[in-house]
Amino acid sequence: MAEKADVLLLGPAMPMIMEGIDKNFTLHKLWETSDRDALIARLAPTLRAMVGGGGNQPNVDGAFMARFPKLEFISNFGVGYDYIDAGWAGEHGIIVTNTPDVLTEEVADTALGLLICTVRELPRAERYLRAGKWLEKPYPYTKATLRDRTVGMVGMGRIGRAIARRLDAFGVPVVYHSRRPQAGVAYKHYPDLIAMARDVDTLMIIVPGGPSTRNLIDMKVLQALGPNGIVINMARGSVIDEPALIRALQNGTIMAAGLDVFAEEPKVPAELVAMDNVVLLPHVGSASVHTRNAMGQLVIDNLLAWRDGKPPLTPVPETPYPPRKR
Ligand code: NAP
Ligand code: 8YV
Repeated sequence: MAEKADVLLLGPAMPMIMEGIDKNFTLHKLWETSDRDALIARLAPTLRAMVGGGGNQPNVDGAFMARFPKLEFISNFGVGYDYIDAGWAGEHGIIVTNTPDVLTEEVADTALGLLICTVRELPRAERYLRAGKWLEKPYPYTKATLRDRTVGMVGMGRIGRAIARRLDAFGVPVVYHSRRPQAGVAYKHYPDLIAMARDVDTLMIIVPGGPSTRNLIDMKVLQALGPNGIVINMARGSVIDEPALIRALQNGTIMAAGLDVFAEEPKVPAELVAMDNVVLLPHVGSASVHTRNAMGQLVIDNLLAWRDGKPPLTPVPETPYPPRKR
């Protein structure tokens, strides 16, 4: 029987992923070892595949990948892969796969939930009830409503479109910003984010993280959005200038925010935790058993395709198949 290939798991993962790797490969858990450098040094000359995406893992930049001269394949848990320098991987013949589509509808559901919770203050109203305050007087009417809002989507890809479809059903007008108009999308496109922020009162952020979107939502965008403004971030913490957002929420530059993602997860700034005009979720966009199982299965299926010499199921655009020759 052929020897099982080594697979380096960069951070903690669901049991089904660990079992799937363990059954078909020789599993090495980077985060569990007391001496990461020693494990890397031992595996580096021969390692061909790794798995990441669950957090508590190193940045997979060029310098990290360069330590593994035989590296061929990285299977990522999650559609976002901003901790991997996929451009470097593509140039060096390494295929990266992610988990698109299987999580789209779940994340869109969560985005709508977060939007409504933020606009109608539902978590705050629930805290009010639990504290026994309803016995004294009804919860005050919310200043905001979805009824008179226009949502400016920042990103109109797979998940952005699923969110927009839901907003259509809610009767909420949608426009969007992305670097290019998206094929087949009829909503008004704004090439200029500030111009869009001026025209809407709600931003729904669903772009990839990484250098091209770092601090895309800065104080200028928040000022353009204005005092009735609500920001929902389903993308990555890095997309918003977090200190600017905190100042804007504190001084009334914008009204409220709903955040599923943060700059330094799982740390959330104490200023945000202390505010009543924010709704905070612990990065749960895709976190149902149903959807996480589908993502986990895709991680394993991609890995098995690589092992069997077949094309990857879901390679990221920066690393097309067949890989570049090294
Ligand atoms: P996608 O299909 O690749 O769509 C990305 C969209 O963002 C496209 O419309 C793209 O258009 C736009 N975009 C990319 N770079 C941009 C830039 N620099 N400025 C403006 N727009 C830009 O991705 P998806 O499947 O919808 O996922 C989007 C992201 O959601 C993921 O990468 C991940 O970070 C995040 N996410 C979060 C959760 C969660 O649990 N909170 C779950 C899943 C995904 P152009 O390329 O034309 O600009
Ligand atoms: C995952 C996500 O929670 O797919 C993504 O990009 O943000 C989420 O679905 C995350 O990748 C796993 O840690």
